[in-house]
Amino acid sequence: MKASIISASLALTLASAHPSIISSRDAVNTSDTGAFIAAGPDDLRGPCPMMNTLANHGFLPRDGGNITRENAVYALTEGLNFNASVANIMWEQAIIANPEPNATFFTLDNLNRHNVLEHDASISRSDAAFGNNHVFNQTIFDTTTAYWTEETLDANQLANGKIFRQLQSKAFNPNYTFTSTTEAFSLGEMSAPILIFGDIPAGTVNKSLVLFFFENEKLPTELGWTKQATPINLDQVGTTSQLISNATSLITASQPAAAQAVLSRRNLVRDLHSGGLII
Ligand code: HEM
Ligand SMILES: *[C@@H]1O[C@H](CO)[C@@H](O)[C@H](O)[C@H]1NC(C)=O
Ligand SMILES: *[C@@H]1O[C@H](CO)[C@@H](O)[C@H](O)[C@H]1NC(C)=O
Ligand SMILES: *[C@@H]1O[C@H](CO)[C@@H](O)[C@H](O)[C@H]1NC(C)=O
Ligand SMILES: *[C@@H]1O[C@H](CO)[C@@H](O)[C@H](O)[C@H]1NC(C)=O
Ligand SMILES: *[C@@H]1O[C@H](CO)[C@@H](O)[C@H](O)[C@H]1NC(C)=O
Ligand SMILES: *[C@@H]1O[C@H](CO)[C@@H](O)[C@H](O)[C@H]1NC(C)=O
Ligand SMILES: *[C@@H]1O[C@H](CO)[C@@H](O)[C@H](O)[C@H]1NC(C)=O
Ligand SMILES: *[C@@H]1O[C@H](CO)[C@@H](O)[C@H](O)[C@H]1NC(C)=O
Repeated sequence: MKASIISASLALTLASAHPSIISSRDAVNTSDTGAFIAAGPDDLRGPCPMMNTLANHGFLPRDGGNITRENAVYALTEGLNFNASVANIMWEQAIIANPEPNATFFTLDNLNRHNVLEHDASISRSDAAFGNNHVFNQTIFDTTTAYWTEETLDANQLANGKIFRQLQSKAFNPNYTFTSTTEAFSLGEMSAPILIFGDIPAGTVNKSLVLFFFENEKLPTELGWTKQATPINLDQVGTTSQLISNATSLITASQPAAAQAVLSRRNLVRDLHSGGLII
């Protein structure tokens, strides 16, 4: 957290000391969007594969700084075709990442602050307690994608990979922290690939596009992806998130018919196998 405060105030100091230099790097140059340029050593990046990607394509400032409301809304609407009001909400939810009071921007580095927005059990990053919480980690991602067994991912596949990561953290990270707010954020994160790269009504997404995006922090345009034809709205965000939420349950809907027939003959009473409950 201390490092983020220092870099945020460093950015401010630099901005006032060298306004011309910083503004040419830190304002979005709208004639420079689209092209992919990987981050250089002085560019700030964070734990969000999509915010990093938007900076790599110049939809956000390429140096990862100065993510004002205006710059964030531009990136999310122009780069990904989010509905502008949804984009505004996303920025409003994220501005607390900047530790400065009444901040008007955040940086990608601000997003690294542990347990502010960044959290344990990410599908492609290590837990803070185990080291770097924001750089893409292929070893971690491979353990997630072991559960992505189909070429077309659905809510179930995305949820399974996430649950595995939560179990790993809960089992082996004594610092494991995952509140109900973290859960809500995580459901949004797991719905994101469907919303951006997938078929929203079907609730599915081509796995190749998702792997390419995570591993390169690049939009999968060369694999045939184009942004959604109509703006991604709040209802779609909510429904897709609920689709993932429903898929996290380890309980199935029903028994096969034959087993059901046998079970229906049992008169359930409280005992050890019913967990002391009548079910
Ligand atoms: C204002 C916009 C956004 C902000 C501030 C933001 C911020 C974050 C942060 C802080 C994390 C790290 C959580 C963790 O510890 O895993 C994260 C993760 C994530 N974000 Fe974003 N995000 C934004 C928009 C998006 C969009 C538009 C997408 C669409 C693809 C996206 C996809 C993801 C995914 C998939 C993860 C999970 C990564 C993982 O578990 O390894 N984000 N985001
Ligand atoms: C930050 O972005 C805003 C647009 O929201 C722009 O007007 C401003 O010049 C940028 N600041 C710097 C330091 O580049
Ligand atoms: C904006 O990008 C275009 C295209 O890359 C470039 O020609 C121009 O010099 C850039 N403008 C600024 C102010 O950096
Ligand atoms: C964005 O969503 C708002 C609120 O749901 C709606 O009023 C508006 O028409 C939408 N805009 C676009 C461009 O879809
Ligand atoms: C932040 O904004 C609040 C409400 O507008 C104001 O009372 C407060 O003084 C501001 N703090 C700083 C450090 O500017
Ligand atoms: C990736 O994560 C593993 C497990 O947390 C860790 O041991 C390893 O050092 C990480 N690799 C990198 C490059 O950070
Ligand atoms: C882990 O937990 C300990 C004890 O609460 C705390 O001192 C430490 O800062 C935590 N480390 C991380 C990386 O979360
Ligand atoms: C997914 O996209 C890749 C790359 O465009 C394509 O080769 C593949 O056929 C697609 N898979 C499915 C199941 O549509
Ligand atoms: C999630 O499950 C609830 C309860 O079964 C159901 O009402 C709802 O329609 C499901 N949501 C989605 C998006 O499938």
